[in-house]
Amino acid sequence: MYTVILRALSVLLLGTLCVATQLYDRPAVKQLVVSKRAPTIRSWEYVDGFPERIAVFQTVFWEPRDTNSMRELIETTDLVRNKSVLEIGTGSGLVSLCSLRAGAASVIATDVNQNAIENARYNANALDLGDRFETRLVSVHSAGAFSTLIPTETFDIILSNPPWENAQPRSIDEYALYDRDFELLRSILLGVRTHLKPGGRLLLAYGCCDAILTLEQLAPQHGLRVQRLDDRRLDDLPEVFVPGMLVELLPRKGCF
Ligand SMILES: C[S@@+](CC[C@H](N)C(=O)[O-])C[C@H]1O[C@@H](n2cnc3c(N)ncnc32)[C@H](O)[C@@H]1O
Repeated sequence: MYTVILRALSVLLLGTLCVATQLYDRPAVKQLVVSKRAPTIRSWEYVDGFPERIAVFQTVFWEPRDTNSMRELIETTDLVRNKSVLEIGTGSGLVSLCSLRAGAASVIATDVNQNAIENARYNANALDLGDRFETRLVSVHSAGAFSTLIPTETFDIILSNPPWENAQPRSIDEYALYDRDFELLRSILLGVRTHLKPGGRLLLAYGCCDAILTLEQLAPQHGLRVQRLDDRRLDDLPEVFVPGMLVELLPRKGCF
């Protein structure tokens, strides 16, 4: 008799467990549906001086050595503290995240790649830095450095690790590497006076001799000069190199 009751109880318990497991499984199925719609994370990365891992989405650029000097300057000085920052071409958001961490009052980050915009936003939210952060998608058809800004929008600090080489991008991920006829570079030179506040600073990370020499050649036409914040000589470097070289765009006389 007791054996029969025990068997009946164990069948009941097993049944309850099955139902409970199915119920428990349902949110997992829902999560799967949500994650299918989210952009795909290509990899998780760690960077020196940045304790948390950073997500990198499909088609989004990842080479943190490009911005070693820029990030060191942000992390070890008051460059961005309580300042408004614009980052042109944010990619995964790495430089913007550093700026937010270093106490920037606000950061606006642009990119021509929709995945980069979502990637930067994702990382900022994941690191709880999203409230001072805004992203703007640049149209490939109107891809000037300041094309998403209105003329009265000005910043204390403008930062960029622009695409380095003079070539035509053939896919959205190639916009990270190629800047045909250095159009983005030229548009930075054209718009810097409009969008930098008095006393503001504009810093670029470039790891390409051609890009740095072009910048130095074009800058005087805009009343600007280029200061290399790096001990290396271009003559000693290959045409394309890492870590990138930090350069600052300054007015030829006085300050912005
Ligand atoms: C060399 S990657 C740098 C990414 C990121 N800042 C970093 O250092 O890891 C250049 C970025 O600029 C973006 N880009 C290219 N042309 C652009 C444009 N006209 N306006 C805004 N972003 C652009 C690319 O999509 C890419 O994300």
